Amino acid sequence: MSKDTVTITDNRSGHSVELPILSATQGPDAIDIGRFFRELGYFTYDPGFLSTASCNSALTYLDGGQGILQYRGYPIEQLAEHSNFLEVAYLMLYGELPRPRQLDEFNDIITHHSMLNEALKSFYHGFYHDAHPMAIMVGVVGSLSAFYHDSTDIGNERHREIAAHRLIAKMPSIAAACYKHSVGEPQVYPDNRLSYTGNLLNMMFSVPCEPYVINPIAEKALDLIFILHIDHEQNASTSTVRLAGSSGANPFACIASGIAALWGPAHGGANEAVLDMLENIGDSRNIPAFLARAKDKSDPFRLMGFGHRVYKNYDPRARIIRAMCHQVLEQLGDADDPAFELALRLEEIALQDDYFVERNLYPNVDFYSGVIYKALGIPRNMFTVMFAIARTVGWVAQWMEMIAETNQRIGRPRQLYVGPGQRDYVAIDER
Ligand code: CMC
Repeated sequence: MSKDTVTITDNRSGHSVELPILSATQGPDAIDIGRFFRELGYFTYDPGFLSTASCNSALTYLDGGQGILQYRGYPIEQLAEHSNFLEVAYLMLYGELPRPRQLDEFNDIITHHSMLNEALKSFYHGFYHDAHPMAIMVGVVGSLSAFYHDSTDIGNERHREIAAHRLIAKMPSIAAACYKHSVGEPQVYPDNRLSYTGNLLNMMFSVPCEPYVINPIAEKALDLIFILHIDHEQNASTSTVRLAGSSGANPFACIASGIAALWGPAHGGANEAVLDMLENIGDSRNIPAFLARAKDKSDPFRLMGFGHRVYKNYDPRARIIRAMCHQVLEQLGDADDPAFELALRLEEIALQDDYFVERNLYPNVDFYSGVIYKALGIPRNMFTVMFAIARTVGWVAQWMEMIAETNQRIGRPRQLYVGPGQRDYVAIDER
C-alpha cells in the first residue's frame, strides 16, 4: 500500500478502494476520487463543494485560515503596492510578469480592442433606462458571441488569446455604455491615450459639451480595486465560466454566464448590498439591532460584506481597500463620509461579538469597496459591474487554462437522487 494513498472501505460490502493523493504546491493535497464510483458504486456527496477541488489550477492560491492570497505565487499585497491592473492581467494570462516591451505590447493590444462594434449600440436601446446594469451586461457580453462566433475556434490557441484580449479590452466600454444608457447621455468612445481605468472613468463621466479631467486618485483607487478583484480561484462565477466552457461553448457566452453568477448578493452583488445595508442602519446607535437580526436564524438578514466560504481570517483584500478608503476620502475632501464611519464602527462592534468571533466572520472584499465607488461618484447599481470588469481577467485566464488541458472533459456532476421510485403513468381522468 503506497504512502500517498487513502484507502476507503465500504462497511456494507467489505470492498476497499485505494485512492491516490495528488500533491498541491501549496495548501491541502487532494484525493483523486475519479475511480470511486467505478470501484465502489457510490457517488461522493458534497453540496456547495465544501471539500471538493473541481480542477487543477496554477493561477491563484488562497489560504483562508492565514488570510493569504497570491496570483501566480505573488502576494496580493505586493501586487497591490507595486503593480497595475494590466500588468497583473498579463501575469494571469501568461504566467510571468511581463518585461517592459511585453507590457507595452500588451497595453497596446488591449487599448486597440476597446471599441465596440457600432451595431452593438442598438442593443442598449432595447433596455429601459432603469434596467439593472448587470442585466444589460449579461445580455450585451453574451451578444458578443454573435459578433465573434465564426472567427473564434476555441481549439486554436491564438483564437483563444484574441478572445481573451477582446473581452478584457471591451468590458470597460460595455460597462460605461450601460451607465450612459441609464442616465440618458450619449455613449463616449474609448480614448487610446488613457489608462485602462482612466478610460473607464472618462467613458462614464465625460460628456461631449465640456472637458472632463480624470482625478488621479480616482484612477489609482480603481486600478487597485481592479487588481484585488482579478481572480479568486474556483468561486461561484469562475466555476460557472469553467462549467459553461467545458462544453465547448463560445467564450463570450461563457463570460456572460459568469456575470450572471456574480450578480447574486452572496457573491459579487454583496458590494451593492453593503451600501444598502449601511443606509438602512443609518446611525451607529442602530448597529446592535442590525447585529441582532444578523444573528437571528429566523431572520434572513445577514451582515453583508461579512463572512466568506474560504477566509476564516481577515480578507487581505478588505484590509488593502480599507486603507485606500482613507486615502480616497481624504483626497476627495470627504474624510467624514458617514458610510465609511459607519462601516468602521460596524466592523469594530461585530469583531467583538461572540457570534462573529466564534464563526470567524470578518469583513470581505465587498465590505469597503462600495465606500470608494461611492466617493468616485459611481452609482450603487454599477458596483457589481465594476467587479465584473476586473474579474473578466480571472474568468478568461481560468477558461484558457481549462481549454488548454490535455484531458479536458465536459463538467458533469452527479446527484443523490431523492425523488419518487419508478411508478406508472395515471390517466388524467383517473387522478
Ligand atoms: N451574517 C450573519 N451570519 C453569517 C454571515 C453573515 N454575513 N455569514 C455567515 N454567517 C453564519 C451562518 O449563518 C452560519 O452560521 P451557523 O453555523 O450558526 O449556521 C455560519 O456563519 C457559516 O456560514 P455559511 O452560510 O455556512 O457560510 P458559507 O461559506 O456557505 O457562506 C457567504 C459564505 C459569503 C455566502 C456568507 O458568509 C454570506 O452570506 N455573507 C454575506 C454576503 C457577502 O458578503 N458575500 C460576499 C462574499 S466575498 C466576495 C465574493 O465572493 O464575491
